[in-house]
Amino acid sequence: MRTDTGQVFKLEDYRPNDYLIPQTNLTFRLSPEATIVTATLTVERREGVAAAAPLVLDGDGLTLKRIEIDGKKAKPADLLVTPDQLTILKPPAARRFQLLIETELAPAGNEALMGLYRSNNVYCTQCEAEGFRRITYFLDRPDILSVYTVRIEALRDEAPLLLSNGNPGDKGDIGDGWHYAVWHDPFPKPSYLFALVAGNLGQVADSFVTMSGRKVELGIYVERGKEKLAGYAMDALKRSMRWDEEAFGREYDLDVFNIVAVSDFNMGAMENKGLNIFNDKYVLADEETATDADFANIEAIIAHEYFHNWTGNRITCRDWFQLCLKEGLTVFRDHEFSADQRSRAVKRIAEVRTLRAHQFPEDQGPLAHPVRPRRYREINNFYTATVYEKGSEVVRMIRTILGADAFRASMDLYFERHDGEAATIEDFIKVFEDASGRDLSQFALWYHQAGTPNLTVSSTHNAAAQEFTLEIEQSVPPTPSESRKRLMHIPLAFGLIGAGGKPVAYSGVEGAGVEDGVIHLRKRRHMVRFSGVAERPAVSLNRGFSAPVTLSVEQKADDQFFLARHDSDAFSRWQAFNTLLTDALIAAFREFLGGKQPVFATRLTELAGSIAGDDTLEHAYRALALALPGDADIARDIGKNIDPDAIHAARQTLALAIAMANAELFSELYHSLADKAAFSPDAASAGRRALRNTLLDYLSLLPGGAALAAGHFQSATNMTDRAAALAVLAHRHHASPEANKALAAFEKTYASDPLVMDKWFQIQASVPGPQAVDTVRALTAHPAFSMANPNRVRSLIGTFSSANQTGFHRADGEGYRFFAQTVLEVEKRNPQVAARLATALRSWRSLEPGRQAKAREALLSIANAENLSADLRDIVERTLA
Ligand code: ARG
Ligand code: ZN
Repeated sequence: MRTDTGQVFKLEDYRPNDYLIPQTNLTFRLSPEATIVTATLTVERREGVAAAAPLVLDGDGLTLKRIEIDGKKAKPADLLVTPDQLTILKPPAARRFQLLIETELAPAGNEALMGLYRSNNVYCTQCEAEGFRRITYFLDRPDILSVYTVRIEALRDEAPLLLSNGNPGDKGDIGDGWHYAVWHDPFPKPSYLFALVAGNLGQVADSFVTMSGRKVELGIYVERGKEKLAGYAMDALKRSMRWDEEAFGREYDLDVFNIVAVSDFNMGAMENKGLNIFNDKYVLADEETATDADFANIEAIIAHEYFHNWTGNRITCRDWFQLCLKEGLTVFRDHEFSADQRSRAVKRIAEVRTLRAHQFPEDQGPLAHPVRPRRYREINNFYTATVYEKGSEVVRMIRTILGADAFRASMDLYFERHDGEAATIEDFIKVFEDASGRDLSQFALWYHQAGTPNLTVSSTHNAAAQEFTLEIEQSVPPTPSESRKRLMHIPLAFGLIGAGGKPVAYSGVEGAGVEDGVIHLRKRRHMVRFSGVAERPAVSLNRGFSAPVTLSVEQKADDQFFLARHDSDAFSRWQAFNTLLTDALIAAFREFLGGKQPVFATRLTELAGSIAGDDTLEHAYRALALALPGDADIARDIGKNIDPDAIHAARQTLALAIAMANAELFSELYHSLADKAAFSPDAASAGRRALRNTLLDYLSLLPGGAALAAGHFQSATNMTDRAAALAVLAHRHHASPEANKALAAFEKTYASDPLVMDKWFQIQASVPGPQAVDTVRALTAHPAFSMANPNRVRSLIGTFSSANQTGFHRADGEGYRFFAQTVLEVEKRNPQVAARLATALRSWRSLEPGRQAKAREALLSIANAENLSADLRDIVERTLA
């Protein structure tokens, strides 16, 4: 484990290295305890650099066995060697020389899952961000692009399959049961994209003919016996390849494209050139073991990693400060792909819910950072919702400002101008400016300034003058180390809506740039005057969520109800109803705190019914509308002095009120939605299941609800319905005979399927209430649980701490104490996963004082532990600062 050096990396300190490594030849002789890696590097001194300049290579816990310079053993006096660095004090005077470095690794003991490690007896690698330096000494930074040739040697019985990046070359036997394979990747790439896989895996093969008629061999490799679970991923891959050709003109560039699924993986997946490595939960699926949400995730992540081939690999990042250059853009591309494959409106609502649930709290708390950060201590902690999801929103805003055609032309220019380069956000913005002639300098603040802007909006209508005025004021709250903010360029899509839901025409507008239904806010305050408006319209604001901002709108409830029924923008219609629900929940929360029992307006519960029964709306849309804001969503909107128990009570009460007001309709609809056709994972079928399962959740609150859910569980013919029923039983009827029976049955059926057992862990870890901490603690001893596997840890501990507000924030602090101990236990093996877990406490300052003090104690107990990793120390210290 790398302990913290306290070093802070700064964007302004960037300078190119004195040396380049145009060619990298690697030989791996694989064995679990003693793998030998021989790296032969062609090193080139950059032009203008003095001949004596020392060459400083990165390492991380390495054991050096041999080093030669131009074929001669290097003299110890000419070197400085530590496990974490190799310095060649006086490299040869020639511009180019050969460096041979031999290191010895123990992949079997590598539980941090960075560098070369073993997962289920398969050798695999994870190098982004700085894992390559755990394999050999190297200039391990993304602006060092090198052409790799890799030779892998292994025992044929142990590892019949030998894969690396690029195209396959020679292979054969070398005696004593050993064999070898050579791979060559003609595209220069940074070390973080290097990958190797060796093991005994099952293969699913297919092929794809590209737009120019080249045939590409496709392979997905999974644990033997699971081949039939890779069909959906293969289909998603081929659709992704076609889509990138059609939507962005991007063609695949190698002869082969391989994907490997492994069961121990720190993140979702990795876009290594020609050899993507995936967390198996984002590859393996069939109706018996995966939910509709799993299918959608697989489709999105397969696409995401594939799209990186152009946005990330062909054009990479100059340094890690530019991470959003590849991630924000690639998330935007995968969002667009899913929107085209499914329902655009539903996809957008789901994206915004995710952004609000994960990015908004980050932006509003101690871990806030700009989409392009200027400082980091540990880069692994910057693979965040801000870099990814807000990064995507920023690209979306660029498209809104430029329009679809100019956006596409700019992207063409980006690929043309920067192919083969390691680029920056400045390069990216300049492409859009050059191609469109627009000035994006104020807009660029979205990359540089942290925090979620807030817009305060009020409106007046002057009937005599036929004038409608919007008064809009922007503010950006302070964030760590940025107390003063500059004014941003915010593209705010809007609509004025009149009787019957028709758009209201206006004859003129002044006070802000208004183009194609978008108000361009650039100043602190805008008075936007619409003339020729006879009747007071309702205003639909931030349509399609055109900007990632919060709104404080002075809007009559009548208007909100009107928009929830009539807004022609599907996102905004959903938003209007969601706002009504949120307002009602916050009011109920306050009544609970004041010792009163809340009562909900009939027109609200009735509106829920009319949305549920509106056949003009997609099933999936109705399901999203009826899903109440979660406990954490409500807490975020309240903002301070949070008492999770009162929030939960408010939410339960509203759910019951909606169920009681619509019992008959919900029941009828529920029964009419039962699946009659054979299972299909497509969006329409998934939407029907989503609505039916949402209705089940409501109906389970009414008399006979436990029996209904138990019946749903028993008759389920797919995992979506089965897991939904199990969650309803466990959450709504905790400890009932029905719940206990279903949990036991599920456990028995799926005991040997770890990915399905993750669902069983998740459902139990999220059961609300004070008992949750004991449940979770007990489950850590379950035979299917392991502290060494990131998926298990995230399912049990991650779900408990980030998706169980009443359990985790138990008033006596026991949830926090258990959590702190567990984070430290995970950290011993895997600092990266521990650091990610620890972010669950990032909003501790918004809790009520009692819980706040206990959360702080838990954070301090982590901070005061000995030998903390750089990863965890960074998170905990920023959280406490
Ligand atoms: N680039 C990967 C992606 O597709 C994420 C890899 C992050 N890995 C890490 N150890 N930080 O988003
Ligand atoms: Zn990515």
